[in-house]
Amino acid sequence: SEKWILNVTAQTPTNIAVIKYWGKRDEDLILPINDSISVTLDPNHLCTTTSVAVSPAFTQDRMWLNGKEVSLSGGRYQNCLRELRSRASDFEDEKKGIKITKKNWEKLHVHVVSYNNFPTAAGLASSAAGLACLVFSLAKLMNVKEDHSKLSAIARQGSGSACRSLYGGFVKWIMGKEENGSDSIAVQLADEKHWDDLVIIIAVVSSRQKETSSTSGMRDSVETSPLIKHRAKEVVPKRIIEMEEVIRKRDFPAFARLTCADSNQFHAVCLDTLPPIFYMNDTSHRIISCVEKWNRHEGSPQVAYTFDAGPNAVLISHNRKAATLLLQRLLFYFPPKSDTDLNSYVIGDKTILK
Ligand code: PMV
Repeated sequence: SEKWILNVTAQTPTNIAVIKYWGKRDEDLILPINDSISVTLDPNHLCTTTSVAVSPAFTQDRMWLNGKEVSLSGGRYQNCLRELRSRASDFEDEKKGIKITKKNWEKLHVHVVSYNNFPTAAGLASSAAGLACLVFSLAKLMNVKEDHSKLSAIARQGSGSACRSLYGGFVKWIMGKEENGSDSIAVQLADEKHWDDLVIIIAVVSSRQKETSSTSGMRDSVETSPLIKHRAKEVVPKRIIEMEEVIRKRDFPAFARLTCADSNQFHAVCLDTLPPIFYMNDTSHRIISCVEKWNRHEGSPQVAYTFDAGPNAVLISHNRKAATLLLQRLLFYFPPKSDTDLNSYVIGDKTILK
């Protein structure tokens, strides 16, 4: 039989929502109940690296995540693979003697090897980077000729927040109106150079896996929380308009106020859910108090905080000077490996104090 292997490697950074996505109106297609806005982190840290390969020698689709084999049989992986295979185009490399027709892609199997350089499923949006990277690298491998927005709609079916990781800078996920999800896509609001003095520090409060997955948490919230309805209908639409304006103007105080308020309302929805969901812990709450006090003391916000489905704090500072002062404070109040359970800080291009 033919002995060839064709492979592609890609890197995709994670993204952190500043206006949160929480709640689906369609669970299979992953269609949200509100728009969301995120910032994509620097690809040098907090990213997924994925290699995908195809060969006639492969007898089934397989995937390894951080060195361990994981199943690709889940509906979400299958949806992504099906969408990509149906859009694959002919590929030919005469030198290597490889020829794959559109039809062949349906029969060929792929192997996927993926690494996260940060804690998986600890509320650091690992699924966002992972699924975006999987879709992007497979699209390259299979010669899929679709633009980023179309790919974002495919990545969305793997993990909602993944659709926002196909772009750098500030990204909006438009909820869309169509029942088939064709208009539920990500668009870039501003590129990575637009607001490049922001510095993001992540305080890794716990690298343990979260107890409530975002999927079951969202389902419970949509079914039981009265607050989530008010949030999706009345609060988020206004915040999206404001946030777009604030990002355009690089208005840090307004950015910080909106970001913190939206994180707090998302966690309020979690508390309003039956049974209540606790993603933040005491250390998370102490970090919030510390930042709030500091911002009040300075007269105008210097740092914004936001927490996803886990206890880790994402702190966005105005500039390098504010980031340095913030870090000094954090190290003073939250020395790693003391009575708090905070293990490390991830800053700029390096992780310190492991
Ligand atoms: O895409 P998921 O299922 O990982 O859900 C992400 C939900 C939040 O991270 C809490 C919010 C967001 O918009 O990313």
